[in-house]
Amino acid sequence: MTRQFGLIGHPLGHSKSPVMHEAAYKDMGLDAVYCAYDISPQELGNAIRTMKVQGIDGFNVTIPHKVAIIDYLDEIDEDAEAMGAVNTVVCQDGRWVGKNTDADGYIESLLPVVSDQSLTGRRVLVIGAGGAARAVIHALGKQRATISVSNRTAEKAQELAQLFSHLTIEAIPLNEAESTLGTYDVLINTTSVGMYPDTSKQPIALDRLKQATIVSDLIYNPYETALLQEAKQRGNRILNGIGMFVNQGALSIEHWTGRKPNRKCMERVVRMHLT
Ligand code: ATR
Repeated sequence: MTRQFGLIGHPLGHSKSPVMHEAAYKDMGLDAVYCAYDISPQELGNAIRTMKVQGIDGFNVTIPHKVAIIDYLDEIDEDAEAMGAVNTVVCQDGRWVGKNTDADGYIESLLPVVSDQSLTGRRVLVIGAGGAARAVIHALGKQRATISVSNRTAEKAQELAQLFSHLTIEAIPLNEAESTLGTYDVLINTTSVGMYPDTSKQPIALDRLKQATIVSDLIYNPYETALLQEAKQRGNRILNGIGMFVNQGALSIEHWTGRKPNRKCMERVVRMHLT
């Protein structure tokens, strides 16, 4: 029987998840479909009831439902609990279990470019304090990094540092982040600044960047943001968000099927569909 997977979010017009997942299933020889369901916050309860009746096998959850979905689940795992957000639901024998593959998906993309593949004790600056920053900070915490978080709205960075106070983390103002930039091993942009179509913007000035710092941006459309372009020109190692996107999707498939999809094939398809 054809297995039914999908994605709920709003709006979903731009999502590359359906083409990425269907390419992976085809490559795996898996008889499955992946449908995008554009569901507004007001429709969430009804949509969930319909999905339960129809017997979906698993689904991804994106903005704005990553937190609200938790109320409809039977259980959430440790990662989802720590992030307070779910991006993957596994439906098994009528039980719905919430997971979050964003943190591990990000770390899987970052570790190969870090020397010794270790972040223990490394100084990492995270720009932004939204949902994406939470996933990245949780991931960095699992790797025992030393974290600074900085955000346009400083109070939100402070709240995040408080939430993750069991980690080595501090909140700092953006001007301090800029002036101490030379002390970091990794710089990560988790904000939407620089995302298509507003591609000329940068979330932080790079004047004090040292050459050994890895510069990472969660954005993958454009493929290289203005931040990454400048860092590359300065001779720094850069990492865009496509790896995280592909890995979080691949980890969802692993939860649903117990099988490892071909990440290279998934990435190729996403790149092909970028504007
Ligand atoms: P996500 O779940 O993708 O992280 P979010 O929770 O809406 O989305 O968070 C967006 C992040 O991008 C926030 O850190 C936000 O900063 P504020 O907390 O000050 O709003 C940041 N952001 C968005 N637009 C920005 C802009 N034009 N300049 C600076 N930061 C911006």
